[in-house]
Amino acid sequence: MVDINWKELTFGYTKTDYNVRSYYKDGKWSPLEKSDSQMVSMHIAATCLHYGQESFEGLKAFRGKDGKVRVFRWQDNCTRLQHSAEAICMAVVPEDLFKEAVFEVVRLNEEYIPPYGTGGSLYLRPLLIGTGARVGVKPADEYLFLIFATPVGPYFKEGFNPVRMQIVHDFDRAAPKGTGHVKVGGNYAASLKAGERAHHEGYAASVFLDSKTHTKIDEAGPANFFAIKNGTYITPKSHSILPSITNMSLRTLANDLGLKVEERSIPLEELDTFEEAGACGTAAVISPISEIQDRETGKIYKFPSGDKAGKWCTQLYQQLQGIQYGELEDKFGWCEIVL
Ligand code: PLP
Ligand code: COI
Repeated sequence: MVDINWKELTFGYTKTDYNVRSYYKDGKWSPLEKSDSQMVSMHIAATCLHYGQESFEGLKAFRGKDGKVRVFRWQDNCTRLQHSAEAICMAVVPEDLFKEAVFEVVRLNEEYIPPYGTGGSLYLRPLLIGTGARVGVKPADEYLFLIFATPVGPYFKEGFNPVRMQIVHDFDRAAPKGTGHVKVGGNYAASLKAGERAHHEGYAASVFLDSKTHTKIDEAGPANFFAIKNGTYITPKSHSILPSITNMSLRTLANDLGLKVEERSIPLEELDTFEEAGACGTAAVISPISEIQDRETGKIYKFPSGDKAGKWCTQLYQQLQGIQYGELEDKFGWCEIVL
């Protein structure tokens, strides 16, 4: 048995036994290989090192109440990785290879799936990188696709307790017609400076505004923003945010719970009118937001739900996690049983 204190797990790296890999060369993907190495060896002129040909994904496997292991919406992560690959001229990973890799990496690391009731999950991190050598700015002709697995707990140390966030005006995460809608490393590099400053100033994450006008809410750090008012679930519609699979699921659940759902621009001033707000994503699940500081004006938007998760955030969280842990009926067919 592995020696892990499951209840103390945070969102960090814990070594597991195996990762799985496939190499793209001469126009073909190699059969999937398992590896027990945590290292990647590559050419010093690989395009991922120089020109940012890199995309990653994040999805989770859960040990359920019935002892079964469920992977949540892997097809959607596969489709998004394909979109990311196309957006930055990388080889596209076929769905059957992606599926084999997901299922295999879960089976190979079964011992590391946190037990039911600990609140943990096995986080899967698919990675696609350009490994072919180039000196001129051109896409590579060789790629590596891998998935590693690591057991995780909550992304924000607050767990499901509300966090404070900070709006920034002096940094943009993504350009209006840039790569914000896909999951490529450059977006995260661009968010680091604001994110580190936010942490230093006591906030869980920075909230980025639309980079063209700086008047609308865009992305909430490594997660999508959503808010609730008047029986309506509202989330930004923007080309520069990542289409979150969690957010997609919450929109379906919100609708099912009788809320109206709106995907539209959210002007900054509207923050004053929300009853609840939250950030959502695979890593964060739902992180309720108690208040948001506008770093430039100093204004603080406080949500009436305050230091406790609001009633809609709580219901959405319970529905989503209930499906993921096999406690509630998977009525939308989101989970696939691996083990
Ligand atoms: N936005 C950003 C920038 C992210 O990195 C993530 C995480 O993947 C999300 C949103 C949430 O997406 P998902 O729910 O698919 O994990
Ligand atoms: C995820 O939610 O899976 C993410 O990728 C967010 C972050 C860890 C980058």
